[in-house]
Order: sequence, then structure tokens, then C-alpha cells
Amino acid sequence: MKEAIEQLLAQVASLKATNAKEVEEARVRLLGKKGEITKLFEEFRSCGPELKREFGKKLNELKQAATAKIDELKNMTEATSVADSPKQDLSMPGTPFALGSRHPVSIVRQEIVDIFRKFGYDVAEGPEIEDDYHVFEALNFPPNHPARDMQDTFFVSTGHPNPLLLRTHTSSVQVRSMETMKLPIRVICPGRVFRNEAISARAHCIFHQVEGLYIDENVTFADLKQAILLFAREMFGPDTAIRMRPSYFPFTEPSSEVDVSCNICHGKGCNICKGTGWLEILGCGMVDPNVLEASGIDSKKYSGFAFGMGLERIAMLKWQVNDLRHYFENDLRFLSQFKTATEV
Ligand code: PHE
Repeated sequence: MKEAIEQLLAQVASLKATNAKEVEEARVRLLGKKGEITKLFEEFRSCGPELKREFGKKLNELKQAATAKIDELKNMTEATSVADSPKQDLSMPGTPFALGSRHPVSIVRQEIVDIFRKFGYDVAEGPEIEDDYHVFEALNFPPNHPARDMQDTFFVSTGHPNPLLLRTHTSSVQVRSMETMKLPIRVICPGRVFRNEAISARAHCIFHQVEGLYIDENVTFADLKQAILLFAREMFGPDTAIRMRPSYFPFTEPSSEVDVSCNICHGKGCNICKGTGWLEILGCGMVDPNVLEASGIDSKKYSGFAFGMGLERIAMLKWQVNDLRHYFENDLRFLSQFKTATEV
């Protein structure tokens, strides 16, 4: 027994552990129910009184030494594991933030603005809450003219002789540009517009436009056609063709709607272009002399063209979005799919 006690004392003195698991294993091996020291105590119980006197004290010392050593190791490994814990390493990089992406309408607006900037156009913005004069009257919509029904208007105040309204197109900004800018004028007007329409996959009461205006001496329909063709090729690819169909707007004469060749099926016919090979992208025309005169521009000396397009529609064609409502619902599964050319 003496030897056994001494051996175990030596073992306890040299006990080492690097983590909590090893400490627990040592505790079980020495002091557990079937541990070596526990076994010695069992042997001790059956010893005669002389041996008990001889070994009792030693055995107790062994147990105390083992318990103290285990406690010491436990404290040590706990302290080092806290220090080593990754949570405590202040030099670790932080949790990364998920980066947002740009909204598809904003990407398309920037592309259009960049193209027209190259052509020498300035960008102009104006108020979303407008008066009747800038949205209708100055654009050759006389009071009660049926053409006002083309654009269902939200009125901000009613029963007022000159009610305020939410602009139905950014042509109002073109009027403000004609009032304030020096001739010749080359300007594009991006912005949000509002129409009283039932919300569906193909219509919304809020959408975005970019409209453009060019006024100078001797501007002709050929200039308009060339500007639209160059724009379409920059926007949809160098092989893009355009087609102009006669149309009507109160503020332009003659007026036209413009289609581009379908860049999905390249004219063969698909469900995006509904089998026609063409996609409608904008309205345009030569500025009506009445509109020039209303803003104090001499229509005998100057002429100009104007055009306007819906950004949601262009984005729909670009990415084959099948429901307008996606643009306004802020669903991250939709929004995170769009990348600008520089991000791809
Ligand atoms: N303002 C027209 C619209 O909102 C678009 C347009 C602009 C058409 C300029 C012709 C010339 O639909």
C-alpha cells in the first residue's frame, strides 16, 4: 500500500492537462467511483488497526493533493480557454454586412442618362406635385380637352380654380426647361410620375419616365429619327433596328411611337414580342408650334423634337420581368438579381 500511495502521489504531482476534457478524465481516473485513490480507500477499510494508523494520514494527504491538483488544473484550463476563445480575439475581422444592390429601374435610368449625356444632353428635374399649366395647358391640352383623358390624373386639391396635381408625365419638366434655359436646349428629364390606374401585372399608378427635348434652329424629323436610332443601338445593342408608327400626342405634330427589333428572338417572333419581332419602347414627335409659343419660343425660327419612355417597361424588356408589381414590393429575392455592367 505504501508503494501504491507513493506512486500515486508522484503521479498527482506531475499531472498535466491542456483542456477541460483532460482534467475530467484525470479526475475520473483518480477520484471517480472506480478511480485508483477510491480503490485504495476500499482496501484501507479492510486493513487491521496498525496498518490503518500507518496509512490513514498518508491516504488522506494523497486525496487532498489529488483534489487540489485537479482544481488547479481546472482553473488553469478554464482561464486559457477563455483567453483562446475566438470571441475574445479582438483582432478578428467583424461579421461582414450584406451589401445591397441597385434597383433595376435605377440601373436603367442611369444607363439612359449616360447615353444622352454622351449626346450632349443636360439632366433636368422638377416637382412631382405640379400645377395644371405645366402638366397640361402649356403642352397644348386646352381645358376640358378630351386628350386629358389619356392620362388619368390624381388631384391633390379639388374644388380649387387651379388645383394642384401629381404630374402624369415628366413633360412638365420640359416646359420648365423651355421657360428657364437658354436656346438651343438639349435636356433629358428623368422622374417619377403618377396615373390613376388599377394596379395589375401590366399597369401601376406610380412609374418612372425619361423624357427628352431638343430645340434649335432647323431641327427636323430626320434628326429625331437619328437620335432615337443611336439611342436604341447604345441601349439594346448595335444590331438593333427601329420602326416608327404614326401616333398622336397633343404636344407633338407629327407624332410617332417607336418599336425596336426584339433583342430576344432577333425578329423571329417570341412570347416577349408576342410573335411580332418588335417591342414598343417610346413615344416621340416634333414639338407642336403652340407648345413653343406658350413658353415664349419663336416657332418660326426654332423647331424641336421630344420623346418619352417608361423605365419599368425598358427594364421589363431588358430582364424579361413579367409583372410590374415586382418593382414596388421590395422583395429581396427579386431585387438581389440585378447587377450593373460594372458589377458583373
Ligand atoms: N409625355 C408622353 C407620355 O407620357 C410621352 C411623350 C413625350 C410623347 C414626348 C411624345 C413626346 O406618354
